[in-house]
Amino acid sequence: MFAIGFGLVCASVCTLVHNYLSSLSSLSLSNSFLASCKKLRLYLEYGNDIALPTINDEITFDWGKRLLVHLPSGLPSAKFLEKREALAEAMRINPNRFHMRYDDGLIIDIVTADFPKMLPYRPSESTHSYRVFIGVNERGEARYYDFAGKYPHLLIGGISGGGKSVMLRNILTQLVTGPAPDLYLCDLKGGVELGIFRNLACVKHLATELSQVLIALNIVESEMKRRYAAMLASGTQEWHGKRLIFVVDELADFKTRAGDPDAKLKNEIKSVTTRLSAKGRAAGVIIVLATQRPSADVVDGLIKTNIAASICFRTRDAVQSRIVIDSDAAANLPDIPGRLVWQTAFNETLQAPFISAADARKLIAGLPQKGSENTEFVTVIIDKEDHQHERHKYENSGEIRTLESNIIEL
Ligand SMILES: Nc1ncnc2c1ncn2[C@@H]1O[C@H](COP(=O)(O)OP(=O)(O)O)[C@@H](O)[C@H]1O
Ligand SMILES: [Mg+2]
Repeated sequence: MFAIGFGLVCASVCTLVHNYLSSLSSLSLSNSFLASCKKLRLYLEYGNDIALPTINDEITFDWGKRLLVHLPSGLPSAKFLEKREALAEAMRINPNRFHMRYDDGLIIDIVTADFPKMLPYRPSESTHSYRVFIGVNERGEARYYDFAGKYPHLLIGGISGGGKSVMLRNILTQLVTGPAPDLYLCDLKGGVELGIFRNLACVKHLATELSQVLIALNIVESEMKRRYAAMLASGTQEWHGKRLIFVVDELADFKTRAGDPDAKLKNEIKSVTTRLSAKGRAAGVIIVLATQRPSADVVDGLIKTNIAASICFRTRDAVQSRIVIDSDAAANLPDIPGRLVWQTAFNETLQAPFISAADARKLIAGLPQKGSENTEFVTVIIDKEDHQHERHKYENSGEIRTLESNIIEL
């Protein structure tokens, strides 16, 4: 009896002490914020008087604390957002863990939880969903990218070793085990990165050489035109059928150099890619482009204009970061593979899930393989001299052949 009573007293004393300490720390957090506002002149002045912001609430989460701040009318939130780093430093908080945004008041998140450096793969939600898991933010909230959404084209940038190919593997594994869109993959590293998907029935083409990239692009463009014609005939403005996704592991492979013998081919590749980026969306034709060299000559201005969604791993400098996400944020990321900035209305830092090639192989092992379905196949005739392309389509004559075997070079 005595032991129980003593235990209860101890517990309530502990709670009291804990509450007292947390109120003390919240007091100091709010005070520290207000003191920092004073220091940085973030207030309104009326003659000799000043009007400081007021703290509406302070909420404790698993990941840290949130301050809800009311700004006196006439004091713009932009002034605070501009001084985010200075404010964090004045409050002795690491600026990377200090987030601020305006949403009917100033919302300040101070994250104390550890940001994971390794995040497991999550399977696709359903065979109908084009929503793929791309990571979690510092608050542990999952983030998804929707290839059936409003801005389906995706640009992925960042230094070598940042995690671009792993991100493609993650996206593709979710897509092939999910809705299985028609996939056209370009991996000029001989297929080391994307080759594991090669034999899947939904992978219509894996291009490992420049000439094959153009063949794939021409097929994709013809399909886009066919879809537009079908939409016109049925009076619809959006393609509701299966998505077609064209993926490039390294866009810089298409960059032309001085005296480049492949210049003509590469320029043609670039112009078809640009056309797809401009017109593909409504026809359910989507492009996903990754590059470790996000310079203006690789990420062509026109392509960039047409691609509204971007993921950027660490970049070498602020210029590269700005090309991908229109901000310097990716240049300031820590050197952690899989750490990225996702460009949304406000940029968000995420840790991407990791999936090894071996695990991806296991997950896709049971999926339909090429040759197991009754394929319609395509023959492309290329005139190497002037790169005029003609496409002839044949219905399956009962034979099972892969796309590559149907390429005739003149
Ligand atoms: N999301 C991730 N989580 C943890 N480690 C990762 C992640 N993505 C990549 N890595 C590590 O970084 C290495 C390089 O990744 P990779 O995708 O090949 O980079 P990139 O294609 O940008 O050059 C991987 O082999 C892996 O060890
Ligand atoms: Mg890579």
